[in-house]
Amino acid sequence: MSERDILISRAKETMANAYAPYSGFKVGAAIMTDDGRIYTGCNVENSSYGAAICAERTAAVKAVSEGARQFKALAVVCSSEEYAFPCGICRQFVGEFMDKDGMLYLEDKEQGELSIPFFDSIPYFFNGERIK
Ligand code: THU
Repeated sequence: MSERDILISRAKETMANAYAPYSGFKVGAAIMTDDGRIYTGCNVENSSYGAAICAERTAAVKAVSEGARQFKALAVVCSSEEYAFPCGICRQFVGEFMDKDGMLYLEDKEQGELSIPFFDSIPYFFNGERIK
């Protein structure tokens, strides 16, 4: 299986764990680190709606809290089976750790696979190098 297929498959598995009783919209994500580890995440909602956490940030926080610092790819899927482009906050958040040439993998039930450089999804990224 390709890196893309593995990550999409892990994202789908994890989407089954999504806790989304308010929106009904389930999301699954999988991140591969530079050393080949995979961290998965789902969205976790809350009755205080603003406290909801997206699948991508769940996966990223799991990775970083286990010591990972460099990501090479992110896959995201959602229950509507359309392209699950990460929200702006997740693009910025994941971008902090993504390789310059890291990949974003998505899929749509009609339009098929989409594999793009992650940073194509966030032009004018806020680069924290400036504040270091
Ligand atoms: N959601 C994600 O998990 N990732 C995104 O990038 C966008 C939105 C979740 C948050 C919420 O639980 C549901 O999708 C509807 O917004």
